[in-house]
Amino acid sequence: MAERGPVRLAVLVSGNGTNLQAIMDHIASGEINATIVCVVSNRQDAFALERAEKHGIPAIALESGAYANRREYDAALVEILRNHGAQLVVLAGFMRILTDVMVTAYPHAIMNIHPALLPAFPGLHAQKQALDHGVRFAGCTVHFVDCGTDTGPIILQAVVPVREDDTEESLSARIQHEEHRIYPEAVRLFCAGKICVDGRRVRLSP
Ligand code: GRF
Repeated sequence: MAERGPVRLAVLVSGNGTNLQAIMDHIASGEINATIVCVVSNRQDAFALERAEKHGIPAIALESGAYANRREYDAALVEILRNHGAQLVVLAGFMRILTDVMVTAYPHAIMNIHPALLPAFPGLHAQKQALDHGVRFAGCTVHFVDCGTDTGPIILQAVVPVREDDTEESLSARIQHEEHRIYPEAVRLFCAGKICVDGRRVRLSP
């Protein structure tokens, strides 16, 4: 069989970028067969952009102010991603809902990580939603992105038990620890050609 070349990733961020860091580290160690072609942030001040620059990765701020609506913003984003030849788009704390413009440009090739066991607690403040609901188990989910909010086919999940004395901060920290494990793993599987989407079900090859 022909050798697969490295998959060209684009990572979209808005904040600290610890998930970006975990993915960059797994690429650097050779565990993920990929190259990050650009990191795009909707916020100029995102620390994630500094992390990218430190690794010599093109870091682009695309703020929404200049665009009339979300679809126009997404069209500009698609242009940047295509110009960089991105094959997989990884949302790592990107605080915008994507429109059909992005989703149809990259069918089953946009991933997101959400800090809850979907389909429970989609949207903002998922960890607080879980605590307020009184669940015994929280966690995180890597999924493909469709036009809904955190509704796309699920790739990987990790479970985090809730402790009696948990606060939103302590639970979020333990969930993030798992995020940094399963997000690189999902990206690795994709880049190794081991993910197949069958309706809502994502099949993983051994
Ligand atoms: C993560 O908790 C992720 O679940 C959510 O946004 C946060 C991003 O954190 N989607 P970071 O920027 O990767 O540190």
